[in-house]
Amino acid sequence: MDVPQICHWHGYETTAALERSAVCAILETAESAIRQRGDFHLVLAGGTTPRRVYAALSQSPANWGHWHIYFGDERCLPPAHAERNSQMAHESWLTHVAIPATNIHTISAELGAREAAQRYAAKLASVGEFDLVLLGLGEDGHTASLFPGHEAGEAADAPDALAVFDAPKPPPERVSLSAHRLSYAKRIVFLVTGAGKHPAVQAWRNGELIPAARITPPQGVEIWLEQSLL
Ligand code: 6PG
Repeated sequence: MDVPQICHWHGYETTAALERSAVCAILETAESAIRQRGDFHLVLAGGTTPRRVYAALSQSPANWGHWHIYFGDERCLPPAHAERNSQMAHESWLTHVAIPATNIHTISAELGAREAAQRYAAKLASVGEFDLVLLGLGEDGHTASLFPGHEAGEAADAPDALAVFDAPKPPPERVSLSAHRLSYAKRIVFLVTGAGKHPAVQAWRNGELIPAARITPPQGVEIWLEQSLL
């Protein structure tokens, strides 16, 4: 039985305004988590949308020693490959701040999807509820590497990480956190920009069960997008 998704839509006049708000929200959520629980566990979105947000974070003061970074998905490419989500995050942000290397939990996608998914699931077994999950939206409605017509891992007993072998968005082989694991978070924010996302946003708002609609935390998800996409 599909759990209905609660959506909180936030429209922004400009991409720059959305990105500024995202940087503030991430820093505020981090401060609150560190104050309350001593650490901040953040899942990063891949793709290109978050790049400027990550770059702005690299220029921001924060209690970096208490940040723990995870990835919502990874492409099965060599570790330093330009198209790796972890490489984008490192280049734009992570190499410029003092987050301990042991707190940056990359997906070993270079080992192949099956092995990497098993290893990441084992790592996540000792990680509780994420404090914040950042996600993107693909033009076909995918999020992380959960694609239409593919297993999303919504069930309570779904593995925390899934191996993906025929992704329609290259590369075909990927690792993705499951919908169930991505939903186990205190706060989930989708960052959506670009006119190409309009059809997927409309499908989402019309109630179509696109992969992004399968992220169902009890408090709902926040979708931060350009006003023109609403
Ligand atoms: C990936 C991402 C993917 C991305 C969306 C949006 O590995 O491709 O994880 O889920 O977030 O495809 O991509 P853009 O931000 O580039 O539009």
